[in-house]
Amino acid sequence: MISLGIEGTAHTLGIAIVEKINEKCKILSNESRMYKPAKGGIHPREAANHHAMHLPSLLHESIKKAGVEIKEIDLIGFSIGPGLGPCLRTVATAARTIAIKYKKPIMGVNHCIAHLEIGKALTGSHDPVLLYASGGNTQVISLLEKKYRIFGETLDIGIGNCLDKFGRAIGIPFPAGPHIEKLARKGRKYIPLPYSVKGMDVSFSGILTAALSLIKNESIEDMAYSLQETCFSMLAEVTERAMAHLEKEEVLLGGGVASNMRLQEIMKKMAMERGAKFFVPSRQYLVDNGAMIAWTAILMHEAGYRMSLGDTKVRQNFRTDEVEVKWS
Ligand code: ATP
Ligand code: FE2
Repeated sequence: MISLGIEGTAHTLGIAIVEKINEKCKILSNESRMYKPAKGGIHPREAANHHAMHLPSLLHESIKKAGVEIKEIDLIGFSIGPGLGPCLRTVATAARTIAIKYKKPIMGVNHCIAHLEIGKALTGSHDPVLLYASGGNTQVISLLEKKYRIFGETLDIGIGNCLDKFGRAIGIPFPAGPHIEKLARKGRKYIPLPYSVKGMDVSFSGILTAALSLIKNESIEDMAYSLQETCFSMLAEVTERAMAHLEKEEVLLGGGVASNMRLQEIMKKMAMERGAKFFVPSRQYLVDNGAMIAWTAILMHEAGYRMSLGDTKVRQNFRTDEVEVKWS
């Protein structure tokens, strides 16, 4: 089965063509374009305009790169939520248009579940605890009784958002995460910051406020280092606790922040010390991408899910644990 997937929950528009062949995920193309605000944070309407503007050309590029014809595509998947309303509606409209024009079935996919499924498919992980660390989301997720349940999550902003806001305050353009990673490598001194783990949940806004109040007196490198060490240790703690409680022996990383090598190192060490396996897909499948949507759409379709156009209304606050996972 060949699927076309469109991702567009926030800043990234991604379009991919994916084939399921001998139970394996074969990515035929995975193209993306990212909206970068000139200054400040993401403006939902501007991001949506960016997606609308780039959609036709990116669609052509992705189809051309895959070397398929539209008639060979069996399914149209799109990110139905969670995400920014205007972005979601733009992508959903495009998906509906393609589905109607070419008479293809349509499938709205939960963005968070898609991050998890592409990670499983590309790394060979079977039953992991996923640390999903991105700009807007920070969750510890695992499959229990047919649902991807959230065992811990941020009580306020996502980890990536915390890094981006810190970056913006010190003049680093969006997305700040990769720049902060580079600065942190040069940090030498650990500056204590509030360590905010509450049961299985984490919180980043207090750390951000504390870090911002200290930037005048400390070097940027030391601050970046301390911010990363504090936030990533918190994530390792809650992920490890979920693994222990659930007796799961695999940890999988997902989301843009998971491309941070220091986070990978900490999580890998935690897994090894527990005798567990560590998995992480390559960067292009950690950040928002169309392949994860195309692939999850196939899994859902094959498990018997069907959607009429009336079912494709976008869901801004769509929770990971609302979907019954019939395919796993
Ligand atoms: P979601 O909609 O799932 O919340 P998102 O819209 O934030 O995702 P992603 O592409 O998954 O999109 O992640 C982007 C985030 O990842 C940004 O906050 C960015 O700063 C952060 N990021 C990217 N690379 C790194 C890195 N090397 N280190 C830390 N953070 C990173
Ligand atoms: Fe994402």
